[in-house]
Amino acid sequence: MERVKRVGIIGAGNVGSTLAYILSATTPYQIILRDKDKDRARGMLLDMFQASCVGEKFAKLDVIASPKDLGGCDVIVVAAGSPRLPGMSRNDLLFANAKVISEIAKDIKENSPEAIVILVTNPLDAMVYTMLQETGFNPRQILGMAGILDSARMASFIYEKLQCAPGQIVAPVMGGHGDDMVPLPRFCMVNGVPLSELLEESQIQEVVQRTRNAGAEIVSRLKKGSAYFAPARATAEMICAIMSDSHKILPCSVLLQGEYGYRDVVGGVPVELGIHGIERVVELKLLPEEKQQFDKSIQSVQDLIDALKAEYFNS
Ligand code: LAC
Repeated sequence: MERVKRVGIIGAGNVGSTLAYILSATTPYQIILRDKDKDRARGMLLDMFQASCVGEKFAKLDVIASPKDLGGCDVIVVAAGSPRLPGMSRNDLLFANAKVISEIAKDIKENSPEAIVILVTNPLDAMVYTMLQETGFNPRQILGMAGILDSARMASFIYEKLQCAPGQIVAPVMGGHGDDMVPLPRFCMVNGVPLSELLEESQIQEVVQRTRNAGAEIVSRLKKGSAYFAPARATAEMICAIMSDSHKILPCSVLLQGEYGYRDVVGGVPVELGIHGIERVVELKLLPEEKQQFDKSIQSVQDLIDALKAEYFNS
């Protein structure tokens, strides 16, 4: 019998627990949860297991107390750390969450060195860099979830304007997962029809702005934290693409190693996902104004990494 694939989720907050629920309801994977609040994780697990008993398949769930139990995970998702609150930028979480990620990196390095690691914690791209620094893993093994989320948000805003073609809208977003992320209208398609054929330029610019602000819009309405349904669903999409060795092309946050003219910095770009994690980075030919926006966004990530290098990694 084929071994059951194992997904570790570190951090059973809103994103971690929603992800566990999605996976437990839709996949055959073994799911293990780890949270500093073990009671909370145990409560979540009981609730999810009981939910699965409404149907016909019993979810395979466990809460682990020791990092040793991370052993044998095919994929580990890191959703620990603080979410942003109203008035905060993702970048305000930099040092506090870098500390959390560093501790988790140690556990993963010791106990599950083969796992593909997906980061969700913000500021996302800088946390991917922190995980790379602290584990020394192959850069193709570590990636961040943001591009699928940002692209889904852009697609949702296009749908709002068109009121047609659900499920047919493809809307790529690149760059860092920050206020200057790069939605790419030129690459937006509605089942092969370019967006420019369907919306006025002013409407497209509204979609671009709303996409950039989409996370903050939700934070300001929730008041006590940030979005989690779409982030969890986007993470599940990455996990399934990896586990099934699908070679799907999806936008993810990865270490750039010469692609787009950058090295030693992390940013969101289209990649092919498979059993080894990042199988290939896809290089789009960007127009000068698109490249300019991408450069600005990567510079913002570089500033965060430089701050970590100056005040965190060396201290
Ligand atoms: C957001 C958080 C997850 O964009 O960064 O909602």
